[in-house]
Amino acid sequence: MLSCLNTILGFLFLVLQLINPSTAKTSSNDLNILDHNIILVNTNATVPKKEQTNFETINPTKDTKIDDACKKGLYHIENAANLIDLQAKCWKVMGNIEISSNFSGSMVDLGLIKEIEGDLIIKNNKHIFRIQGYNLESLRKLDLESLTAFVSLDLPVLKEVSTIDWRVLPILSSVVINGNIKKVKNIVISDTALTSINYFNNVNEVDIFNINNNRFLESLLTKLESVTKQLTVHSNARELELDLSNLHTVENMTIKDVSKINVAKLASVNSSLEFIENQFSSLELPLLTKVQGTLGLIDNKNLKKVDFSNVTEIQGGLMIANNTELIKIDFFPKLRQIGGAIYFEGSFQKIDFPELKLVKGSAYIKSSSDELNCEEFTTPKNGRSIIRGGKIECTSGMKRKMLSVDEDGNVLGKQESSSNSGKKEKGKNNTKSQGGSRKMENSAPKDIFVDIFKTSVYSVLTILFAIVF
Ligand SMILES: *[C@@H]1O[C@H](CO)[C@@H](O)[C@H](O)[C@H]1NC(C)=O
Ligand SMILES: *[C@@H]1O[C@H](CO)[C@@H](O)[C@H](O)[C@H]1NC(C)=O
Ligand SMILES: *[C@@H]1O[C@H](CO)[C@@H](O)[C@H](O)[C@H]1NC(C)=O
Ligand SMILES: *[C@@H]1O[C@H](CO)[C@@H](O)[C@H](O)[C@H]1NC(C)=O
Ligand SMILES: *[C@@H]1O[C@H](CO)[C@@H](O)[C@H](O)[C@H]1NC(C)=O
Ligand SMILES: *[C@@H]1O[C@H](CO)[C@@H](O)[C@H](O)[C@H]1NC(C)=O
Ligand SMILES: *[C@@H]1O[C@H](CO)[C@@H](O)[C@H](O)[C@H]1NC(C)=O
Repeated sequence: MLSCLNTILGFLFLVLQLINPSTAKTSSNDLNILDHNIILVNTNATVPKKEQTNFETINPTKDTKIDDACKKGLYHIENAANLIDLQAKCWKVMGNIEISSNFSGSMVDLGLIKEIEGDLIIKNNKHIFRIQGYNLESLRKLDLESLTAFVSLDLPVLKEVSTIDWRVLPILSSVVINGNIKKVKNIVISDTALTSINYFNNVNEVDIFNINNNRFLESLLTKLESVTKQLTVHSNARELELDLSNLHTVENMTIKDVSKINVAKLASVNSSLEFIENQFSSLELPLLTKVQGTLGLIDNKNLKKVDFSNVTEIQGGLMIANNTELIKIDFFPKLRQIGGAIYFEGSFQKIDFPELKLVKGSAYIKSSSDELNCEEFTTPKNGRSIIRGGKIECTSGMKRKMLSVDEDGNVLGKQESSSNSGKKEKGKNNTKSQGGSRKMENSAPKDIFVDIFKTSVYSVLTILFAIVF
């Protein structure tokens, strides 16, 4: 209702300005034509459609002279009059437009401006309710941050934008962008009230795609095929269904708090891949072959079905922790090599990696289930362990076994204990590498892992790796 009213008011204002531009230009700094209060008086007036069309079809060509006033490089807009002045003179603005946090109008109207060869920056403002630019087709960066009264954005013909950076716009709920945006470099949308984000459906590749803390966002569909730096989706609505069904390559990807996901075409991950605290029960990546960083599956409480059937190599660590419904870790039938450490925690009963030949880091395995057989890791078949990172610790139910190995997998020392018996009763103490084992038992699992891992799988596996070497 309110936003509809506002649209009408916007048109009205533009028409008014067209009919009598001198009013706008001569308005004093105090006069805020855009203020609700003033405009509300005219609410009854109807806007003739034709006039509006006339206005919108003003079509400057390349030859249209650009006033020097439009090439200043940076425009500080303190009040509505500044903006009225700028847009009346410049259909193309060469420079950044910065709307002051002192701007007290409720509407930012870009009026006649068609191109901004620079950024539009609006930050820390408590008054702005609406931003509109009915003629705006291109700009470099749309940088909106900490606008607590901002509800509605209307850029119906926007086609070109390089960076979308929207943060802390807690009541932003209406965005109209009908233009056909095909290319964007970075998209960050954080802390808004948007229920859908569908203006980038024709974009295939971005560097950064980061959608977080949009608490009403229940569905997100993208046609992205490649994300060259970071793909992050977290802390949106609990029910968020995420469709990344065209995604083929990604550099870093972190998915958290998602209830359903489609990443079926993902084939390569150049850095790390993490799925944390999601609600989905099934995660299928049948085409994924290689993860060049760390792979983490953490706290996905409903996860039952996992498919990594084509993965042959993980160059970083592998962390699978606290996925309570996951009874078997046996979904890597082709995995041959892990470049970092292994960290498995939970209530799983079985671990099976039929093709695994080499783990360059250490192994920390802890299951609350007594069904888990630790022997496979703690009693290497031919005397040489596939784990080459120095330490192996495997706990099944109450029993803990520890092993130290050298770089070739030769066993240097062994220890067994009951994991609830505390540090004093350490059980048997047979042989060489006491120092190392003790250090690991005292510090590694409890203090380092448990706290830090949850937030960053990557950094802790690195630490583990570092402890070892
Ligand atoms: C608005 O319209 C109503 C009825 O349509 C009328 O009574 C009222 O006087 C109008 N107000 C203005 C300010 O024109
Ligand atoms: C806001 O207005 C005050 C007083 O006029 C001024 O001191 C301050 O620099 C202005 N802030 C910005 C961001 O322009
Ligand atoms: C990611 O890896 C693929 C295949 O290994 C490669 O073609 C691509 O250039 C890499 N992308 C980046 C951003 O490094
Ligand atoms: C990928 O993520 C890791 C861990 O967060 C970070 O260290 C690394 O710099 C990221 N890589 C890129 C290209 O953003
Ligand atoms: C593994 O990936 C190849 C393509 O890279 C595909 O043809 C094959 O079907 C995949 N295997 C499985 C088990 O999905
Ligand atoms: C373990 O062995 C070391 C050296 O082999 C010895 O110094 C230490 O006292 C032993 N500890 C226990 C608890 O037996
Ligand atoms: C797994 O759950 C246990 C018990 O709630 C917790 O102590 C531990 O920190 C969790 N591990 C990770 C990696 O989140």
